[in-house]
Amino acid sequence: MVSPAVHYHTVMSLDGYVAPPDGCQRWLRPFLEAGSEEMQAALASTGAFVMGRSTYEQQIAEGEWRFGDYPTLVLTSHPVMNPPPGVEVRGGCPKAALDVLASRMTHGNIWLYGGGYTAARFLDAGLIDRLWLAIVPVVLGGGWPPFDGANGPTGFIRRQVREGPKDMVYILYERDVEGAGSK
Ligand SMILES: NC(=O)c1ccc[n+]([C@@H]2O[C@H](COP(=O)([O-])OP(=O)(O)OC[C@H]3O[C@@H](n4cnc5c(N)ncnc54)[C@H](OP(=O)(O)O)[C@@H]3O)[C@@H](O)[C@H]2O)c1
Repeated sequence: MVSPAVHYHTVMSLDGYVAPPDGCQRWLRPFLEAGSEEMQAALASTGAFVMGRSTYEQQIAEGEWRFGDYPTLVLTSHPVMNPPPGVEVRGGCPKAALDVLASRMTHGNIWLYGGGYTAARFLDAGLIDRLWLAIVPVVLGGGWPPFDGANGPTGFIRRQVREGPKDMVYILYERDVEGAGSK
């Protein structure tokens, strides 16, 4: 079986954070709304989601479950009470967890939703194929990074840069598997 590609989508402030210190996602809302077409296009090729426990809890606390019935994996070493339909909770090595998620998928790629801690574990395991960044014109002044504690360096190759609505910039990178990218 061919493993589905893993695409890490994240929205980042000008000073390089994906969330402010309190972790809330309210600052993102106007940009997510303005960029909804871009999100819909990405969703069209998505077959499943994966996220870390903190991001999952943030989503639940904010009362929004954006993931419908997509097969969704929440990584944690703790129990999770009454997850929404389609959500599976696991711990352990990212590759083994992804293989289980892949077995539940019927099509598409895996959208790595974050946060940065989980993304760094995936990066270190060589599991991120594409990195889709939306840079928004906001300075948060502190917070959570897109890769928290990655062992790096890991190279990426730029595939696309585009202007988005509300002064956003979309950047698509692919992992530099050959190590031949920018030197
Ligand atoms: N701007 C954006 O696009 C965006 C997108 C998503 C999230 N975010 C923000 O990111 C913040 C959260 O990011 P974060 O880096 O703090 O946390 P996170 O990655 O969401 O969650 C970290 C937790 O995931 C669990 N985990 C991850 N990999 C695991 C594994 N292989 N096995 C077992 N458990 C594993 C651990 O939970 P346990 O301690 O339970 O073991 C770990 O403490 C939130 O504030 C959220 O709003 C922003």
